[in-house]
Amino acid sequence: MAAEQSKPKGPDLARGVPLDDLADGGMIGGHVGEDAVLLARRGDEVFAIGTTCSHYGGPLAEGLIVGDTVRCPWHHACFSLRTGEAVAAPAFNPMSCWHVEKRNGTVFVRDKIEPAGKRKAQRANAKPKRMVIVGGGAAGFAAAEMLRREGFDGDVTLISSDDAAPYDRPNCSKDYLAGNAPEDWMPLRPAEFYKDQSITLELRSEVAAVDPNARQVTLANGRSVPFDKLLLATGAEPVRLDIPGGHQPHVHVLRSLTDSRAIIAKAKTARRAVVLGASFIGLEVAAALRARKIEVHVVAPEGHPLERVLGRELGEFIRAIHEEHGVAFHLEETAMAIEGTNVKLKGGATLAADLVVVGIGVRPRLELAERAGLKIDRGVAVNEYLETSAPGIFAAGDIARWPDAHAGERLRIEHWVVAERQGQAAARNMLGQRRRFSDVPFFWSQHYDVPINYIGHAEKWDALDVEGSIDKRDCLVRYRRGGKVLAVASILRDVDNLKEEAAMERVAPNA
Ligand SMILES: Cc1cc2nc3c(=O)[nH]c(=O)nc-3n(C[C@H](O)[C@H](O)[C@H](O)COP(=O)(O)OP(=O)(O)OC[C@H]3O[C@@H](n4cnc5c(N)ncnc54)[C@H](O)[C@@H]3O)c2cc1C
Ligand code: FES
Repeated sequence: MAAEQSKPKGPDLARGVPLDDLADGGMIGGHVGEDAVLLARRGDEVFAIGTTCSHYGGPLAEGLIVGDTVRCPWHHACFSLRTGEAVAAPAFNPMSCWHVEKRNGTVFVRDKIEPAGKRKAQRANAKPKRMVIVGGGAAGFAAAEMLRREGFDGDVTLISSDDAAPYDRPNCSKDYLAGNAPEDWMPLRPAEFYKDQSITLELRSEVAAVDPNARQVTLANGRSVPFDKLLLATGAEPVRLDIPGGHQPHVHVLRSLTDSRAIIAKAKTARRAVVLGASFIGLEVAAALRARKIEVHVVAPEGHPLERVLGRELGEFIRAIHEEHGVAFHLEETAMAIEGTNVKLKGGATLAADLVVVGIGVRPRLELAERAGLKIDRGVAVNEYLETSAPGIFAAGDIARWPDAHAGERLRIEHWVVAERQGQAAARNMLGQRRRFSDVPFFWSQHYDVPINYIGHAEKWDALDVEGSIDKRDCLVRYRRGGKVLAVASILRDVDNLKEEAAMERVAPNA
């Protein structure tokens, strides 16, 4: 028997709803036929858009209208209410939109709007013609996709040392590692996308050198690829464990899909794991391995996990959730050696482990930029357009240090959405659009059923205030310095988090 189709909820928007039921900035979820549709009002204008975010399916009705966009409550993707375009990552696929008619104080949703075609292509004889992107991760993929979305019809070459086409890296430590995400969730786009979009994707290809004067990159195999504009998006690499026994086959790092698969393969038979490092990745790995019923011990030098990033209160709360799920912490401890399957700790204890995962931080991959003579400032120095000290060469993602308008200082941040949005901004600037990158940094992290959303950036703060209750999993935590809110973390206060983001944007508006 066929499963009964769930009917979209709410009013039939084709029959109309009173305009007065829709406050300015408000949204009403309803349906048109079988399609779930969201009606959104901004001033006198009313828009109709699909209800389910094209990233991971977040409920847009619980998001926020900002200008003529709607922001997703889960990971802050931003969609145009006029066209449905995913104007800011992490979503890339557009949403459906419908025509709206207002008559005698009633709003009716009419036909679906046909998706807009590609933007007008740049003329073939217009410069630049050859775009090269080094790095097939968050920033590199987002840049390639945006170049084509913006109608660029010259050559786009995406060179990646990875084995796999661009994929959902954050999931490598979350549902995928826990065994709760199928393989087909991982690619950011199916293989045909690159063919259809004429993006030359060169996998397992290491770029060995960049020559800013000759305008070419040279691959490790000696082949040269010329460029008119270049984007460096080489990301970061995990810090390796430099202790005796740290290079054994059961000792893993986690950066790539290949790394994640190797841990999964080992987890099939492992009974006891030691995670070195109580970073976000270390703790997400702990949660994923607990989901696989593996005994997990976390060893870390700090006394309070995540205190440096989130403050002691939130850090201790996250530690407690992990303990509730059976994770054992060995804090103010470090591993001195791994003898066979025994992890020897500085304090004298020994932990048996048939799987060790090392999550002790990452280093930005700067070698290419350094050797090319680009300006380095604890990262690749870029201006507000993400252009490096060499004209026409851009950098984005984990390697880039940019002047952040909100923080009023130069930042280098290792967040997925920041990298994607920088890739998008860099692509537009490679096309000559001169758009400042001024998005407020955002990241999310998931610990069992507790999601944490964080906007802004606070390396140091002099005041931290909690609105709501951390223990009740319903809070907004503000990090302030000199009275100014630098960052806000939240648990299950998604719309408030979006409002804080919009407030920060108003202070540092997009130029
Ligand atoms: C397991 C895991 C979970 C994470 N979870 C989150 C999360 O929940 N939220 C969040 O905000 N952030 C998360 N992050 C961080 C986030 O993934 C990174 O900030 C983001 O991927 C950075 O994007 P990027 O494009 O700069 O680099 P990457 O995505 O690392 O991509 C770099 C690419 O460059 C390639 N490359 C490097 N050197 C060369 C070379 N010389 N030649 C050719 N190719 C090269 C690499 O193979 C890779 O394809 C996570 C990271 C990991 C590893
Ligand atoms: S589900 Fe909407 S941004 Fe992720």
